[in-house]
Amino acid sequence: MAVAWVTGASSGLGLHTARALCAAGWQVVGGARSLSAEEQPGLLHLPLDVTDDGSIAAFVREATARYGAPDALVNAAGVLLIGACEDYAAQELQRVMDVNFLGMARMVRAALPLMKERGRGRIVTFSSVNGLLATPFQGAYTASKHAVEGYSEALLMEVRPHGIQVMIVEPGDHRGGQEKYRGRSAHCSAGYLAARDRAAAVIARDEAAGSDPARLGNRVARALARRRMPARLRVAKPSQHMAVILHDLLPTGLFTLLLGTYYGVSRRK
Ligand SMILES: NC(=O)c1ccc[n+]([C@@H]2O[C@H](COP(=O)([O-])OP(=O)(O)OC[C@H]3O[C@@H](n4cnc5c(N)ncnc54)[C@H](OP(=O)(O)O)[C@@H]3O)[C@@H](O)[C@H]2O)c1
Repeated sequence: MAVAWVTGASSGLGLHTARALCAAGWQVVGGARSLSAEEQPGLLHLPLDVTDDGSIAAFVREATARYGAPDALVNAAGVLLIGACEDYAAQELQRVMDVNFLGMARMVRAALPLMKERGRGRIVTFSSVNGLLATPFQGAYTASKHAVEGYSEALLMEVRPHGIQVMIVEPGDHRGGQEKYRGRSAHCSAGYLAARDRAAAVIARDEAAGSDPARLGNRVARALARRRMPARLRVAKPSQHMAVILHDLLPTGLFTLLLGTYYGVSRRK
């Protein structure tokens, strides 16, 4: 039975991906800090904090002792921190980068030697449409997902000769993500307050009306079953696909004016 390690497996898209892989016949080892009580054959939950080297080492030890080396690593752990770029404290930026970017890179470093030894393996990392374009008051998240994109493309080229494939998943808005992972920066300058709240309302509305997370989990599982995974899997509504295309086509000034208007932040004070 093929073995997949899935981070962020206690909630949202990570949990749905773990379930879909399990249903497709994988032995899944799901890692997160809060362990899901969900029991099903083929799905084992282990404690994992991707910001903590000791926790990662314990996860790897336990997972390999039980099922051997992973055939796939799925990096889904992630957090969002809504705030103005000017207002993010350095520690807040570090926290978002630590989970979304460094946490993913730590897991890659932990899994790769085991994969290289066998000359095969698959690494799937959750980026976002925000890995390709920025949205207002999601500067920390956007920066972390751009880092994920750059790192993953470089990784893809480096590990291909070792028989290892890399796929970047770029979800648009999906339902089911939990509020506790959508914090706000501790400080908000008075000048940004109203705009931040309008943008936050649009973010919440779009996620609530987002796509089905179970469907995305199944798409990832199907891609993992292919002999050759696509390097990118973008799962988004047509309007978000269009936004990515327009981002590359339009002058940045015009594109950001349009997107800022959508989020209710373009008005001059
Ligand atoms: N939902 C969307 O619309 C959307 C869109 C684009 C991209 N994404 C990406 O998809 C992924 C899942 O997001 P989601 O919104 O579906 O789920 P979510 O409900 O926000 O869940 C976040 C997951 O990350 C885990 N996590 C957070 N900090 C962690 C840490 N230090 N160590 C280990 N795990 C940690 C959480 O587990 P514990 O707290 O139990 O550790 C939880 O399982 C993220 O990478 C996100 O950026 C989501």
